[in-house]
Amino acid sequence: MELRCLLLNIVFISVVNAMLAFGTTSQDDRRCSYGRIEKLTRIRCHKMDLKEVPQNLKTSVEVLDLSFNRIKKLKSGSFQRYSDIKFLMLYENMILSVEPGTFAPLTSLQEIDLSSNGLTSIPVELFSMPRLRNLYVDSNELKGLHQELQTLEKPIRAPLEYLNVANCELDDIPDLGTLPNLWQLNASMNPLKEFSIDKLANLCHLSVIDLTRTQISTCDCHQVTNHLMTMGANPKYVPVCMGAIDSDVCPLPYNRTVDSSTFSSCLASAELAETRSFWLFAAGCCGGVALVLLVFCYCVYRWRKKRTNRRLSQSIENRKRFVISPRNAINNRLEDQPLHCDTASA
Ligand SMILES: *[C@@H]1O[C@H](CO)[C@@H](O)[C@H](O)[C@H]1NC(C)=O
Ligand SMILES: *[C@@H]1O[C@H](CO)[C@@H](O)[C@H](O)[C@H]1NC(C)=O
Repeated sequence: MELRCLLLNIVFISVVNAMLAFGTTSQDDRRCSYGRIEKLTRIRCHKMDLKEVPQNLKTSVEVLDLSFNRIKKLKSGSFQRYSDIKFLMLYENMILSVEPGTFAPLTSLQEIDLSSNGLTSIPVELFSMPRLRNLYVDSNELKGLHQELQTLEKPIRAPLEYLNVANCELDDIPDLGTLPNLWQLNASMNPLKEFSIDKLANLCHLSVIDLTRTQISTCDCHQVTNHLMTMGANPKYVPVCMGAIDSDVCPLPYNRTVDSSTFSSCLASAELAETRSFWLFAAGCCGGVALVLLVFCYCVYRWRKKRTNRRLSQSIENRKRFVISPRNAINNRLEDQPLHCDTASA
């Protein structure tokens, strides 16, 4: 009797377990959720044990969250269908390799988060993405990037504003050439043995830098702080340096960085971009005004033509007995059609 009861119990428990397991795997966790954020279409496929980028999502996705999955490799076709993506989260995966061409379809990409993966280098094609502003590659095993970056064409095309390379075993901040838009650099938790303040000359608009746990010297630290303060950075975002400095060994103020040709060419390229965008804007405005004028003139022309046509046809009606020339017949037919100006000028 007792044995049967125990058996029944075991069966009951295992049925309940199976049901629970079925419920969680096939319903709650396994489906990507759709939503909107700041008027953008967002799809979250977060913590789903995915091994690949899913290919059955709505192609109009603009924010795609694939974080906390088990993706090992990004393939050249992974994002072929999703060319509208602006924000792409791939953090906490197992990405070891990225095939060339993977990001090529993503011409609208503004931000990518590849942190906490197994990357040994930054996929170089990211640096030529025309809209990429924010790049997170922290907590990867980048180590030395010198070789990969040596062949990189500089200045890079991506208008980087934020770069996070924290915790990547780097011995230096990556040399990406002039980055006139970069305002925040996070290089914390790297053994930056080769750091020198002059490397910041390429970053003429830097105002926040995280150099905590980087083993840089006290002198370098003071010089960075001094440098950012002269550039007008908020004291809250400059490094806090421990220890005093010997002014014989460490000259302060040290302004070889801001007085260098690299720094001035960085400023010049930023100004160039600004004037270019101003002229583009101005040209756009002029074009718009010209278009409105053109539409207006066309409408006036159509209206006057219609009026003369009406007068003409009225006069024709008055002498109905006369033959209507084919030309006037055509004009009369035109008169039945509505004018399209009202929608064009609205
Ligand atoms: C820099 O990155 C690390 C690791 O991602 C993070 O913990 C830290 O808060 C970041 N620092 C700043 C100033 O954002
Ligand atoms: C450079 O340093 C000198 C002092 O050594 C200082 O007088 C000068 O204002 C500094 N220039 C800039 C651009 O900070």
